[in-house]
Amino acid sequence: MAACPWRPIAGSRPISPPDGPWGASCGDDSLPEPLSRSAPRPNPAKAPGSPQPRESGGGAIGLAPRQVAWQVLQAVAAGAYADGALERELQRQPLTGQDRALATELAYGAIRQRRLLDAWLDQLGKVPAERQPPKLRWLLHLGLYQLLASDRVPASAAVSTSVELAKRGGLARLAPVVNGLLRSFLRQQEAGGGLVLSADPALALAQRQSLPDWLAQALLTWLQAPQAEAFAVACNQPPNLDLRCNPLRGSRDQLLADLRAAGVAAEPLAGLPQGLVLGGRSGDLRQLPGYTEGRWCVQDRSAQRIAPLLDPQPGERILDACAAPGGKSTHLAELMGDRGEVVALDRSAARLQRVGRNLERLGLTCIQTRVGDGTHLAGRPEPTPSQAGDEPGASPPGPGAGDDDWWQGGFDRILVDAPCSGLGTLARHADARWRVGPAAIDDLVLLQRQLLEGLAPLLRPGGRLVYATCTVHPRENGELIAAFLAAHPHWRLLESWQLWPGQGPAGEAAGPQGQAPGAGGDPTGGDGFFAAALQAPG
Ligand SMILES: C[S@@+](CC[C@H](N)C(=O)[O-])C[C@H]1O[C@@H](n2cnc3c(N)ncnc32)[C@H](O)[C@@H]1O
Repeated sequence: MAACPWRPIAGSRPISPPDGPWGASCGDDSLPEPLSRSAPRPNPAKAPGSPQPRESGGGAIGLAPRQVAWQVLQAVAAGAYADGALERELQRQPLTGQDRALATELAYGAIRQRRLLDAWLDQLGKVPAERQPPKLRWLLHLGLYQLLASDRVPASAAVSTSVELAKRGGLARLAPVVNGLLRSFLRQQEAGGGLVLSADPALALAQRQSLPDWLAQALLTWLQAPQAEAFAVACNQPPNLDLRCNPLRGSRDQLLADLRAAGVAAEPLAGLPQGLVLGGRSGDLRQLPGYTEGRWCVQDRSAQRIAPLLDPQPGERILDACAAPGGKSTHLAELMGDRGEVVALDRSAARLQRVGRNLERLGLTCIQTRVGDGTHLAGRPEPTPSQAGDEPGASPPGPGAGDDDWWQGGFDRILVDAPCSGLGTLARHADARWRVGPAAIDDLVLLQRQLLEGLAPLLRPGGRLVYATCTVHPRENGELIAAFLAAHPHWRLLESWQLWPGQGPAGEAAGPQGQAPGAGGDPTGGDGFFAAALQAPG
């Protein structure tokens, strides 16, 4: 059994977006909404026994943000998304800026560290975490998270507010349990005791880095132990805030100069001609130079590598088949000089509205949005994974009638930025790791294959299709492409790679030109992404 000494949890510094209600699954969104990049840290430590100021409304200091965080933990455990639950709670119980930041940090931090906190509860309590009454379990998580992760919340405040919440929140009888367990943690900590980790390497990794057990086990089959650890550590770090400059509205150099003149730390991203990263605090992003004029959008550095893989040319007709919220559609249009036609298709009409807002702000006119299902665009029966038999020169579906047949004539290039498990973006979404499991992967792999099979016939002879995901699961990535190519032997793999959070770029199952994309670029940071560029028979 290995002991895990106490240490502040990596990445415990407060972050609002992108963990907040950005709703972009792959680190893309050019219309950020809440927007304070770095929320202030929780209240600076106060010496125990110092006078306790009162909040307006008569509550003890610090109770309101913790109450909000506790509600969010309960809502997420019941199935809500963390960002939506937090927004709803903050509407119900409005908080000032500093308390809002504290509520955000505590909610997201405790959700992210659920596995680690459960391991502590198992060690400290008489009843295992999974068998605690849920309300109590999440309150104990909240208290323990503060003791473990926050170097600014004094221990006395963490304990007393947790006990007070128990009394006011329907757990009065259990308030002594809350007090006893948190104090027992403090005693262990003072005595130098740490968490006793499982002897099983995968379970120990899961406990240490707060991952679901299945994911820790899978990681150790995909990667060497040090790389698996680095991946897990990266999942608990605050993500970068990367922008993509819109070259049709000014140069990156000018944008960098304007941002710096406004006091914003901004650096160019090596290997990405339009990429830049913001450092430090940048406040409300909409107030930054160039936002209103559409000179930039938010897009993670890994996501910025996808549209160029299509090598889009001005005047071409391109289908972005899973387009919302539009990060890559707008990138394609920019690369084409806004000349040609980009059809931004998505199954979700609501999400497509965000594409509309984004392209309007960026001043792009060559994109048209379409609601539709990429698995059977032309009303064909849904293709099955066993569907095969394309021949060289196979042409897109034949003529039809009306607006339903907008796909007729085919496309020079197709992007399939597929719905996926999002395992490459765990740093951005506090609750994402608890939402995905092996069964969800099965469903996703089926949908991804159906998308490929349904869209491939729409590609013109010799055209290029790029398949991309923001996950690291081989079944959704390299294995899926290998199965597609086995069923379509006349298609050619031009290039493929996998980016892993926490490590430099690594090529995977590369084709003839099999270069990893980041050579010469910035190998640090960035979401996990997979991409494969395929060529249809000519
Ligand atoms: C990874 S997100 C796309 C991100 C987008 N490409 C970007 O860069 O901003 C996947 C999208 O696929 C859409 N989607 C899921 N199933 C689909 C289907 N059968 N047909 C079309 N779109 C689908 C989802 O609504 C979601 O917006």
